[in-house]
Amino acid sequence: MKALVIYDSMYGNTEQIAKEIGAALGSGAKVVKVKEAKVEDVASSHLVIIGSPTQGGRQTIAIKTFVDDLPVEALHDKRFAAFDTRFKNIMARIFGYAAPRIELAIRDKGGNTTAQPQGFFVKGNKGPLLEGELERAATWAKSIAAGLPTNLMPGDYKVKKKEK
Ligand SMILES: Cc1cc2nc3c(=O)[nH]c(=O)nc-3n(C[C@H](O)[C@H](O)[C@H](O)COP(=O)(O)O)c2cc1C
Repeated sequence: MKALVIYDSMYGNTEQIAKEIGAALGSGAKVVKVKEAKVEDVASSHLVIIGSPTQGGRQTIAIKTFVDDLPVEALHDKRFAAFDTRFKNIMARIFGYAAPRIELAIRDKGGNTTAQPQGFFVKGNKGPLLEGELERAATWAKSIAAGLPTNLMPGDYKVKKKEK
């Protein structure tokens, strides 16, 4: 499988997650910063994962512009997934996050986003990532590659016992 991870990053945290995802996807995966990302790379990949820091409740302008400018033909026959880095607090939740917006933009263009958008937590604007987030990113990426459920936000692991 040819996988492509496109990311933007101001302080390096989203870049760390992007590289971890690339490593988890194996040797076929290419990880590129959005400034260097090419439409041809998207068109020739089977799986495209796009990540951005959340800034003001949304993705960076560079990520938004890249997705908006993707020609519809480049979206055919592939799967997309979106992730972001974000704060873990109620205020941040009110403004929303980058990943659902990226996912929506891709779906609006007719892209196939089979994976649950995912957020990875940072402590402050400059990071660092909370403990365990790199591992969670690797698990998320492997689940996508394997076609498994991808809703891996903390707390989603609880399985209710069926009442008899
Ligand atoms: C201008 C600015 C606005 C931000 N707005 C939000 C926000 O609305 N919600 C949130 O969860 N985090 C917000 N953050 C924190 C970023 O999510 C954090 O800086 C980012 O995850 C770090 O990733 P990076 O190192 O790849 O840049 C903001 C950060 C900056 C610098």
